[in-house]
Amino acid sequence: METTDTDRCNTSETGENIWFTFTRRHFLSLAGWGLFFAAMGGYLVRFFWFKHGFFYPKVVFELSPRFTVGEPKSFPENSVTKLKSRMVFIVRDGDSFKALSVVCTHLGCAVEFSKEKNIFECPCHGSKYYRNGVNFAGPAPRPLAHFEMVIDPYSGRLVVDKSKTVSVETELVV
Ligand code: FES
Repeated sequence: METTDTDRCNTSETGENIWFTFTRRHFLSLAGWGLFFAAMGGYLVRFFWFKHGFFYPKVVFELSPRFTVGEPKSFPENSVTKLKSRMVFIVRDGDSFKALSVVCTHLGCAVEFSKEKNIFECPCHGSKYYRNGVNFAGPAPRPLAHFEMVIDPYSGRLVVDKSKTVSVETELVV
């Protein structure tokens, strides 16, 4: 196809070609290669970044099993407070504190505390636990896990350590 002066984008004042003529074919060819390299680049980034974690550090971030839950007075007397992000219940009876696991000992569902019945209930298969975490109904084979709880000597705050379990009778008196 013959090109006319209107197709030429780089012409001298006398009408002679300086570099080249930029036709629709050039444009489509350039766009095609551009798309090809963009697709290849995207594929390579995806391959190295996501599939092999090439740009990610090989580190797993986990919450520390030992954490501060607050001052004793921040928990009302005779209360059960669920710390959802930590998956523990803080049970306060008078001056005594316990840290109980939220995880049902049957198949691991999250138990809920019923204020009306004053017990923990599992919504999955109906296990029930007394307020002190001891199981009394349903398929749960043992009490809820009890975690070690201490008072931080510097801040006076309660500290729970989920890496250490204690017996059902253990309680922290402040
Ligand atoms: S998981 Fe709680 S009763 Fe089955």
